[in-house]
Amino acid sequence: MHYGKDRPSILPHDPFKAIIAPRPIGWIGTLNGDGVPNLGPYSFFSALGNNPHLIGFTSEGQKHSYVNARDRGEFTFSLATEALTDAMNISSAAVPDGANEFEMAGLELGKSIEIATPFVAASPAALECVTVSATQLTDRHGTPMERYFVIGEVVQTHIRDEYIRDGRFDTAAARPIARMGYRDYATVTEAWELTRPDD
Ligand SMILES: Cc1cc2nc3c(=O)[nH]c(=O)nc-3n(C[C@H](O)[C@H](O)[C@H](O)COP(=O)(O)O)c2cc1C
Repeated sequence: MHYGKDRPSILPHDPFKAIIAPRPIGWIGTLNGDGVPNLGPYSFFSALGNNPHLIGFTSEGQKHSYVNARDRGEFTFSLATEALTDAMNISSAAVPDGANEFEMAGLELGKSIEIATPFVAASPAALECVTVSATQLTDRHGTPMERYFVIGEVVQTHIRDEYIRDGRFDTAAARPIARMGYRDYATVTEAWELTRPDD
């Protein structure tokens, strides 16, 4: 079968997000103009490159995380894990600017070193980021869309000691959750290794 703009009703729901899956969740912490902490999950999110480490997320509309990361010039990423699922979900509620989703979700603030924005203290790993750019996306015709892409450079990494094994971050032990399509999520529960031909 094929699915496209020419026949969108062939499936009851757009399969795009179920195909580009699982997607890591950027659990984005920011400070608003008054310095009130804000937290929200973003699955149009990924690592973008190494050295410097860059991460990025897309805001559909000018959401608080986008506005705050743009205006404050910084944001945090916290790893969303199985144990933190309810808190992650609570933090996705559409609440007015100034509502503190850390508080709403019962999350303690982790204190950043290089920036003022807090992260989720209970998360196995978190990143402090300085905003590199916050830009409006266009479609292929160059028409601006209500989509805003934020890129941040990682300036500090926090890892809870219990997730360091033999000098490595034990991703599977942290049980990160990832977004798929519809209302589906996946959990990372095991890791396997594959060497490269030129290793
Ligand atoms: C798992 C998950 C992933 C989400 N991913 C995105 C996303 O990539 N972009 C987006 O605009 N909204 C996304 N949302 C919705 C936002 O989290 C929601 O609109 C939230 O209220 C935004 O918070 P903020 O305005 O404080 O930034 C997602 C929600 C969930 C539960």
